[in-house]
Amino acid sequence: MRRTTTLSAPSPVDGQGDEPTDPALQVHDVSVAFGGVRALDAVSLSVQAGQVTGLIGPNGAGKTTLFNVITGLQTPNAGRIVLRGRDITARTPVRRARMGMARTFQRLEVFGSLTALDNILAAAEFRRGWARDGSDPRRVADDILDRVGLREVAGERVDGLPTGLARLVELGRALATRPSLLLLDEPGSGLDGTESAALGELLVETSATGTAVLIVEHDVELVMRICSTVHVLDFGRLIASGAPSQVQRDPAVQAAYLGAEGGSTATGKGVT
Ligand SMILES: Nc1ncnc2c1ncn2[C@@H]1O[C@H](COP(=O)(O)OP(=O)(O)OP(=O)(O)O)[C@@H](O)[C@H]1O
Ligand SMILES: [Mg+2]
Repeated sequence: MRRTTTLSAPSPVDGQGDEPTDPALQVHDVSVAFGGVRALDAVSLSVQAGQVTGLIGPNGAGKTTLFNVITGLQTPNAGRIVLRGRDITARTPVRRARMGMARTFQRLEVFGSLTALDNILAAAEFRRGWARDGSDPRRVADDILDRVGLREVAGERVDGLPTGLARLVELGRALATRPSLLLLDEPGSGLDGTESAALGELLVETSATGTAVLIVEHDVELVMRICSTVHVLDFGRLIASGAPSQVQRDPAVQAAYLGAEGGSTATGKGVT
């Protein structure tokens, strides 16, 4: 029977979530084991809209595994993933994408035989297929070329571009779906100092439009500069969460980084 009065409007998906106070993402007690390896051990954290949040930790800490659980590529042994108040643990990666999740991969995933523009356009058209909001994919892709700074190489095949630019193509493709949650797995790797500074600005600008950005990055300087909150994983466990300066001073974090072979950062400088 049709209800005529409601105290609050039901959400379009399943009647819960999307309250203004809901974090963009909540990870509750997520565990993943690969044979005897505990890749994630009861990890809980949250990510807020309108901010860049960092996820750091030494090699093998479980960062990519957590991204795979969040995006639905890896089923957790335990725990829940909640997107804007809705439990999405059982949803497919495609459903999650439609709900506003986009990611980039540590091992770059782009269409090498397509141009930079066509990679981005493909994502904008993919989005139009479900969003039906009248957006023009060509205009969306065109705006993104400028935003990510790819205008000059728009017509070039991506497999002929340097890694730094190919990473920006992948980022542009993620942005073309207009995500509410953007997950980036080491977007700074392969970028030089100028490109990395531009990436930082772009991510801060993107978060300022309301998108929640979660970034895995070994360039600790970049993380400390652009993140409002940083979560630290070590051997699958969350060992610290807080403001960058607070996390940097945390003895457990310093010990994890000193214990990591050769320091843990791409720059080899550890966390300080
Ligand atoms: N598919 C898999 N099968 C078996 N073990 C895996 C698999 N994926 C990850 N692991 C193991 O799980 C642990 C966490 O790996 P993960 O790739 O999540 O770490 P990471 O923090 O992303 O590391 P890096 O900084 O090197 O990218 C590691 O011990 C890794 O060897
Ligand atoms: Mg990784």
